[in-house]
Amino acid sequence: MAGFSSQHLLGIKHITKQDIELIFDTANHFKEVINRPIKKVPSLRDITIANLFFENSTRTRLSFELAEKRLSADVINFSANQSSVKKGETLIDTVNNILSMKVDIVVMRHPDVGAGVFLSKHVNARIINAGDGTHEHPTQALLDAYSIKEKLGSIKGKNIVIVGDILHSRVALSNIFALQKLGANIKVCGPATLIPKHIKSLGVGVELNIDKALQWCDVANVLRVQHERMDIKYFPSVREYTQLFGINKARLNALNKDIVIMHPGPINRGVEITSDVADSKQAIILNQVENGVAIRMAIIYLLAEQIKNA
Ligand code: CP
Repeated sequence: MAGFSSQHLLGIKHITKQDIELIFDTANHFKEVINRPIKKVPSLRDITIANLFFENSTRTRLSFELAEKRLSADVINFSANQSSVKKGETLIDTVNNILSMKVDIVVMRHPDVGAGVFLSKHVNARIINAGDGTHEHPTQALLDAYSIKEKLGSIKGKNIVIVGDILHSRVALSNIFALQKLGANIKVCGPATLIPKHIKSLGVGVELNIDKALQWCDVANVLRVQHERMDIKYFPSVREYTQLFGINKARLNALNKDIVIMHPGPINRGVEITSDVADSKQAIILNQVENGVAIRMAIIYLLAEQIKNA
């Protein structure tokens, strides 16, 4: 089988369906590894990885760090809040200083769109985008697609609705690219003000009525409203948002089928999703988190193989 086609993981847009399938096959192996009593393999003993987080994170940061440690890589962690970025250091200077400590792979979350692409052109290391502003979050999309495949057996032909703040969501865009490459049909649903005007040009349907969207779908991926990225009001009140777009038991009970409920986290319980739905058997939210470690082990392993074979 051919190797991973890219030197970096900057976005799902840049990789092929074959790349995604290779990551899934590799993740299957690592999922088995992390469920063993001894959860560690020596594969990356000669690889050093820097996790650079210029924006807050719980799941992605911990998941990458655990994936790297399960592969026996050396790991250094950087958080912008506690760094010399606060003293005016540029991104390239920060990263080149870290790279001079002989780092092979950089995992970076950054608030600016395209930060990973920019870095990949200016520094000598493999870059994994852990979320760049409102643009892409490729490892989240890979773990989401992997979790859907695990739950439903396949992705091709499945109807998947992404609900909520599509405008500010890097998860939405990466999910659209990944799931379309794997043959799913995608719709988005949310307030019209939170749906990008160009979305239909990506081959994505728009449904403004949440009950119709739920009736159509096999899977609902529910997103948080990203108040921190809003400088104007996009809807009158959180209460109205919850009434019109919140996923609750009454809405799911009105369907003549069980759909799969996903959420990338962090959840705002009682806003975009009620606790009884988030904690129900239909929800695979914690499976997504578990699969995130295997998916991140897979992508790191595939990039490290390239480095060793270069
Ligand atoms: N899903 C996700 O990216 O969560 P964090 O912001 O906690 O990393």
